[in-house]
Amino acid sequence: MLDNPIVNKFSHLKPGDTKFVTDGLRDFFLYKDLGIAEATGGRVLAQLVCANSAPEKGTGWHQHMADFHIVIMLKGWARFMYEDKEHLVAAGDTVHQRPGITHYLFDYSPDMEYLEIVSPADFKTVDVESDVPVPAPTPWKKTA
Ligand SMILES: [Fe+2]
Repeated sequence: MLDNPIVNKFSHLKPGDTKFVTDGLRDFFLYKDLGIAEATGGRVLAQLVCANSAPEKGTGWHQHMADFHIVIMLKGWARFMYEDKEHLVAAGDTVHQRPGITHYLFDYSPDMEYLEIVSPADFKTVDVESDVPVPAPTPWKKTA
């Protein structure tokens, strides 16, 4: 990254300029790019993440290799294990996901939507082992 010239483009994205897509990290989530990776030459990713299907197994225990990572819950809620502690992250909450922290997103509401800001944009994710028990997800109610 340091070998590359700094990219700092002005960017003003409207809600309709990008769409939620399925080709993100998890197939049970949809991801909407907010143009920041492009504007910063990959130094920072900003994306909206929403639920695509009901929680089943969740993410599994994992860590992200990043320099910076925050999650701001905009709608609904998600339940995470961060190391051995359960956290209900609800709309209005902000989480600083310390780089390398072992965590597991195991439950979320149908209307969940969060803003995730990560550096670098191409951060890596590694699955890890943990003996900490993880609660079951909350079934989604069938709607008529
Ligand atoms: Fe994660």
